[in-house]
Order: sequence, then C-alpha cells, then structure tokens
Amino acid sequence: METVLLVGGGGREHAIARALSAADDCALYACASNRNPGIAESADGFASVGERDADGVVEYAASVDADLAVVGPEAALEAGVADELDDAGVYTFGPHAAEARIETDKAYQREFMADHDVPGTPEFETFDSADAAAEYVDSVDGDVAVKPAGLTGGKGVRVTGDQVTRAEAADYVRESDHDEWVIEERLVGEEFTVQAFVANGEMRTTPAVQDHKRAYEGDEGPNTGGMGSYTDTELTLPFMDEGDYDDAVAVLEAVVDALPDYKGVLYGQFMLTAEGPKVVEFNARFGDPEAMNTLPVLETQFLDVLTAARDGDPLPDLAFSGEATVCKYAVPAGYPTDPEAGARIEVDVDGGDGALLFYASVDERDDGLYTTTSRSFAVVGLGDSIAAAEERAEAALSGVGDGFRVRHDIGTERLVRSRVDHVAELRGE
Ligand code: AMP
Ligand code: GLY
Repeated sequence: METVLLVGGGGREHAIARALSAADDCALYACASNRNPGIAESADGFASVGERDADGVVEYAASVDADLAVVGPEAALEAGVADELDDAGVYTFGPHAAEARIETDKAYQREFMADHDVPGTPEFETFDSADAAAEYVDSVDGDVAVKPAGLTGGKGVRVTGDQVTRAEAADYVRESDHDEWVIEERLVGEEFTVQAFVANGEMRTTPAVQDHKRAYEGDEGPNTGGMGSYTDTELTLPFMDEGDYDDAVAVLEAVVDALPDYKGVLYGQFMLTAEGPKVVEFNARFGDPEAMNTLPVLETQFLDVLTAARDGDPLPDLAFSGEATVCKYAVPAGYPTDPEAGARIEVDVDGGDGALLFYASVDERDDGLYTTTSRSFAVVGLGDSIAAAEERAEAALSGVGDGFRVRHDIGTERLVRSRVDHVAELRGE
C-alpha cells in the first residue's frame, strides 16, 4: 500500500485524485486551502492547509505517514513545498523551487532556453524596470507579447495586434506593479500543449491538448486560466501532423537534458507557427484544464508512474484509451474581470454516460457549495471522436443553472475546423 498526499484543490487536482484512487494499493490524502468535494470524496482524509504553507503541508504529510506526494499548483512549487517534502523524506512528484523557475520566472525561462539552445525559442528581451520595458515596447518594430516575469495565474500577458495596441501595451507595462518583464516577438499560429512525466532524466509524453484561454466564445475577451480544452483519439490534434508533435517532444527533451534533477510534470505550451512549433511557455505541473483531458484516458496507473519515479525504475510506457475528450469549464458570472464569489451552486450536472464531472474552486460549507472567484467546475465528455465527446460534454452541462458561464464553442466542429483552416493558411496550403 502506498500512502499519497495530494496538494491542491482545483479541477486539475480532482483529476489527479480520481486517477490515483483508481489504484487498489493507494491510500490518498489531500490538502488545500479550499475543500473540493470531489477530492474530499475520493480521499481517505483531507486537511485545510494553504498551498504555499510548506510547513503545514509537511506536518500533514507526517501525520498521515505519507510515502509519496504530488503537488498540483505552481504556487506551492514556487513556495518550496516539493523541497520541504523531499527533505522530510516524502518523495514528491513535482520539481524543487529551483527547477520550477522554468515556470515561475519567465525571464529565467527564456534565458535558460537561449543558454541551452532549446529549439523553438522566440526572439525576446528581458527588463528589470517597467519604464525600460515600456520604452522598448514603444520603440520596437512589429507586434510583441509583454509578460510580467512572475506568476499571474495566466492573466498577466498582453499581445499587441491581437488584444491591445502597442501604445496600450506600453501603458499597461508602465502602470503595472511588476518590475521584471519579458518582451518577445508575437507568435502567430495555433496553440497546443504537450505534458510529459519526468523523473531521473527520463520522460514519457501524453496526447497534445488545445486549451482556450480567452474568456468568451470566438476567442474574444481577456485571458483566463483556461476555459476548456480538447484532445483527439491520437497523440496529435487535427491541425497538427506527427512531425509537429515530435518537434514539441524534442523541445521537452532538451529541457529535461538541461535539468537532470527535474521531476514531476513538464508542460510545454507551443504555438504552431508557419515555421513549426515555438515555445509560448513552460509550466512545472499539469495544466488546468489539461489534466482533466489527459488523466481520464491514461490507462497506465498514474500511481505506477509515481512509484517508478521514486524508486529510480524506468518510467512505465504509457497506454491511452484512444478516446477523444472535450472539457468545458463553468465559471462564475463575471469571471475573470469581476467574478461573483459566494454564490450558491445549485446545479444538476449529469456525470454519467461518457462524461465526468470535476469540481474546481468551489467552497464546500455546511449548507452547500459556493462559488469562489475562480473557475467552479468542469465537465469532460469522452467519445470516439471530438464531436462525440463534445456532444457528451454538452449533455452533461444541460442542468447547469444561472450564474455560470460556459464557452459552448469549445470542441465544436466549427471551431476545430477553423483551427485546421488557420494552420493550412499559415502553411500556404
Ligand atoms: P503565458 O502566461 O506565457 O502562457 O501566456 C498566456 C497566453 O498569452 C498564451 O497562452 C498565449 O495565448 C499568449 N502568448 C504568450 N506569449 C505569446 C507570444 N510570444 N506570442 C503570441 N501570444 C502569446
Ligand atoms: N491551462 C493553462 C495552465 O494550466 O497554465
């Protein structure tokens, strides 16, 4: 029997909890700042501990006698939760704060890529004053992405020629509270994610996922943590070919080669441009929502990945069910600019029939579930095509009441077709 501690309380962690509790020989405990009912239900125990409270997490791990830990959120990695758990003798599938900088410090991330000749690195400049960064944005030719170097929950980036003008981007930088900035070339194309399990210098990759960051249908509105995502029945997505997937894997391999102590999930966010995949960013953990696409189709026990990583054994080859998945988030009204927290969640989501329900940032109180200011819950449809999976996700969402917003266009044939046409146009086909 393995006793595993899961850190984090979002949809991603509910998906991890579901995957771990599928193993017969796993006793699962979880801790997070919010009580996620989906996680609490699959776990043998739950404690309310802040994700950045490394001492609190270590104390809870000791109290349940954990053998292994999995860290979901980047904030916990940045706070050194994996370092402290490892120091306390609990093998943690998640990188130490030094390796997690690949996500938590975008200036480091780009400089690391340049230093190690990681393929797919865009043109970039780093700045340690907002004024200098803003001046550069004003003076540079062409469109740019402006990025605060630190963590912003996916909401800090502005892209000129897409969301804002260059003058607006320069003002945004100048008026911000951030000092450290990355300004880089605007990449044009279609985004996709590849997540890899990494330990002991080895990695295993999972199917490509496409997330939808923009808040509103038709890719309008501000960026969010991700409104939903889909995978196809194979490793690639309909707008990619196998060579594109292999190029993305080569990028992840270059990172793993340069970070031999890295362990956990390495997440590559790519833009498939006319010149092939370029790196938008790396994350040091599963994506949220992407974990909800990936883990339900993983037939290999996730627990076996963790124990192999800990024991220094070769990581198991991964088997996938071959189903397509479509994940759609229900978010509180007003999200992300003016979200309404504290609204009572009264929804009748049908998690049966080829669909799964994952709770995210809901708060479970004595008298029911309440929204927080973050994404509330997600449904994932599974099927033998993206269209079939999308239909199932929508059927499961039919009982969602007022007070929530969903991007119903995610995974629809129309949207997927527009992605394929976009890449064909970029490639001059
Ligand atoms: P990040 O926080 O780096 O993932 O950025 C959030 C989102 O901003 C990405 O998912 C992209 O949609 C967009 N983005 C980031 N960097 C670039 C870039 N260099 N060119 C175009 N879009 C970008
Ligand atoms: N879905 C994007 C992220 O997890 O950062």
